[in-house]
Amino acid sequence: MMNIRNLKQSFAAYFNSETEIIVRAPGRVNLIGEHTDYNDGFVLPMAIDRAVWLALRPRADKTVRLFSLDIPTPTNASLQADSVFELNALTKGSGWLEYPKGIAYQLQEAGYELNGFDAIITGNVPRGAGLSSSAAVELAVARAFAAVSGFTWDAPRMAKIAQKAENEWVGVNCGIMDQMASAVCKEGHALFLDCRSLEFQHVLLPKGVSIVILDTSTRRGLVVSTYNERRSQCEEAARWFGVKALRDVSVEEFERGKLALPKEHRDNVSPVEGGKEERLDEVMLKRAKHIITENARVLEAVHVMKAGNIKRLGELFDASHDSLRDDFEVTNDALNIIVDCAREQEGCYGARMTGAGFGGCAVALVKEQNAKEFANAVSAAYRQRSGLEASVYICKASEGASLIKG
Ligand code: GLA
Repeated sequence: MMNIRNLKQSFAAYFNSETEIIVRAPGRVNLIGEHTDYNDGFVLPMAIDRAVWLALRPRADKTVRLFSLDIPTPTNASLQADSVFELNALTKGSGWLEYPKGIAYQLQEAGYELNGFDAIITGNVPRGAGLSSSAAVELAVARAFAAVSGFTWDAPRMAKIAQKAENEWVGVNCGIMDQMASAVCKEGHALFLDCRSLEFQHVLLPKGVSIVILDTSTRRGLVVSTYNERRSQCEEAARWFGVKALRDVSVEEFERGKLALPKEHRDNVSPVEGGKEERLDEVMLKRAKHIITENARVLEAVHVMKAGNIKRLGELFDASHDSLRDDFEVTNDALNIIVDCAREQEGCYGARMTGAGFGGCAVALVKEQNAKEFANAVSAAYRQRSGLEASVYICKASEGASLIKG
């Protein structure tokens, strides 16, 4: 938990006045349903007890001044020019400030009348680890704008605006999962989300189980280009199956159709006449297989979670990781090693990578009474096998973006 007193003291030190409003928005861990969001599929994330906080005071003009306690600026004695922007003269730049600027831009595009503010921003979601530190910044800033500008907080709408900011202003072609998780999650619950309709359900987390995040401490570059490549491979596979998105293909249809010809040829050309080159490429088939089976796993996960069948939930975690490793190919050695280390420990029901992949974090489902020992044992085993230091968090499901004081 953030120390609110320190936050207020920092605000007073930088801005020479009292904090009027405090907002926070959490990071998230995805329990299951990886890379399914941009295939119109299902996901099951939960907000974690690590977040981004803003302590702020409204301004009477259209200036936003943000001072980050976490990201160093060349001199910390005074506000840097790049942490200030004007709401009626937004221009693109680079760095973390693009997230707040993107939010301001998209809110105004959507017709919201915004007021400026002075704020201190800080957080404890590790950056680039697959725990959605950027969605947390986006939703915290959106929550701040709602508070100072006096508009009603509509969480799903804000999530969509934040996704648009990330897609169009920042230039990352992400799906909707992270923003929805940071905006609408409920304490003690996971969020079962249909990424096509945006219908969601809060699913109570089972008792006696801990959700443990295992940060491999590896971060991979080129995540954005590899992510976008996976996206287009999925789109190509969907076109081949003749559907809008891979969400529309069931496991049975996949099994039946995977060796056939493209949809438009299937009715009038025999497979032999069609020739090999018309079949779906081996790589696309693997990508499609992951998405289609992963969607089925999410639906089953929700079902077994409600029924309290933790053993099966763990098996689904394991199957998800294996599919991401072998078919979607987005794990790295560190993730595979840490997942193996986790699975060997007493009390572990299952473990898998979480988030976009290529580095970052895994998540394990562990018997509550074993969680502390589990954390130490995984760290030690991982250190021994990889030579790297993991960070391990036993985390709690927290509330989505909220106003703490104001
Ligand atoms: C990133 C993206 C999400 C989602 C995951 C993979 O976190 O921002 O939209 O696609 O990767 O499940």
